[in-house]
Amino acid sequence: MHFFEHRGGELYAEDLRVTDLVKEFGSPLYIYSAKTFRRHFEAFDSAFAGLDHLTCYSVKANSNLCILKLLAEMGAGMDIVSGGELYRALKAGVDPSKIVYSGVGKRSYEIEEALTADILMFNVESLAELEKINEIAGNMGKKARISLRINPDVDPKTHPYIATGLKKAKFGLDIESSLAAYAKAKELEHIEPVGIDCHIGSQLTSIDPFLEALDKIMAFRDKLTAMGLDIQYLDLGGGLGITYDEEEPPHPSAFGEALTQKLAGLPMKVILEPGRVIAGNSGILVTEVLYTKGGETKEFVIVDGAMNDLVRPSLYGSFHRIGEVTPKGRPEHVVDVVGPICESGDFLARERSLPAVESGELLAVYSAGAYGFTMSSNYNSRPRVAEILVDGDQAILARRRETYEDLVEAEKSCLDKI
Ligand code: LLP
Repeated sequence: MHFFEHRGGELYAEDLRVTDLVKEFGSPLYIYSAKTFRRHFEAFDSAFAGLDHLTCYSVKANSNLCILKLLAEMGAGMDIVSGGELYRALKAGVDPSKIVYSGVGKRSYEIEEALTADILMFNVESLAELEKINEIAGNMGKKARISLRINPDVDPKTHPYIATGLKKAKFGLDIESSLAAYAKAKELEHIEPVGIDCHIGSQLTSIDPFLEALDKIMAFRDKLTAMGLDIQYLDLGGGLGITYDEEEPPHPSAFGEALTQKLAGLPMKVILEPGRVIAGNSGILVTEVLYTKGGETKEFVIVDGAMNDLVRPSLYGSFHRIGEVTPKGRPEHVVDVVGPICESGDFLARERSLPAVESGELLAVYSAGAYGFTMSSNYNSRPRVAEILVDGDQAILARRRETYEDLVEAEKSCLDKI
């Protein structure tokens, strides 16, 4: 459920007309709905009410400061994967004791920053990282709380680029060698092993892989208990999918219920790291039609948004629903919706049946709230677009549109040296 809907032939974001927002803020434009973010967070978080839990929103999905603040105010913790994400989370007022830090390649300065902030825990992905954290914590006179990320070798049945829990993935430690890794963690003076972590993939549309992973993790936890380790946190990662097209992912309440059944009564705090399920359908990308052209074999709708603004269709072949902002009722054509970038892979949709559109008209690309702006770039020297957060009848400029000056700002000092 989201709050982007047509009323009287016009697309609204909550109480504001998308056309008016584009008049004011320009195109392309990311528009987020605060009400939708709140609703999704509430639906997810309340699904786990039966468990001692902490919902750590996965910052990588949409890291705009406004969004982080909105969620932090609802009690969310954060799952971060870089010093940059830590910086954003702290800026947005997130309580550091609700931050977990995942990722295979944490750098020394990032580890130091997280220890200074006194985050809840590091999700450690290798023995080498464990030793590095121990060394840095020692130098700082601190003890680092950690979980080891276990790779349970479960097939999440999703796109190979976003499947992370298979043995061949670069993530985590395989379950066989993890016991020795915990024994090592227990020995290290500046490490406190407090949890177990796993994340098997993203855009999962069935609960079964989660439950399969959970069973393996729970069996593993028993071994840790036998080793005398007191595991207080069980971090199950993120990954619950959303509807982009025809997918029918489980509702968060069903997901929560299934996990609650398995975990109720266990003396552990459960951590969840949802990203897409909170942010995905809370945002749209609006783009203006520049030109249309009919080739011999194809028709193209050329829009001002491109793969640098939303890379998911190009990178994963992902489907995003596209519709007119102001439907005109014209007959449908099969078209490719493409951007201005000089790559054949620059498209937002391929072979899509869309009503005929004319230049100057607006299209909405749905489900763009997660992994949309955060994966955007300046490719082809295109300034990154503006982001707006709509809250009722209020439009907040969440990020101003970049200028040409922004494009060269970090480079221009070289001109004096060459
Ligand atoms: N926790 C960890 C350790 C993760 O690696 C991820 C996502 C999440 C949580 C959040 O997963 P979610 O609930 O959003 O599925 N760019 C891709 C998705 C990459 C996901 C990477 N990890 C896409 O656009 O589909």
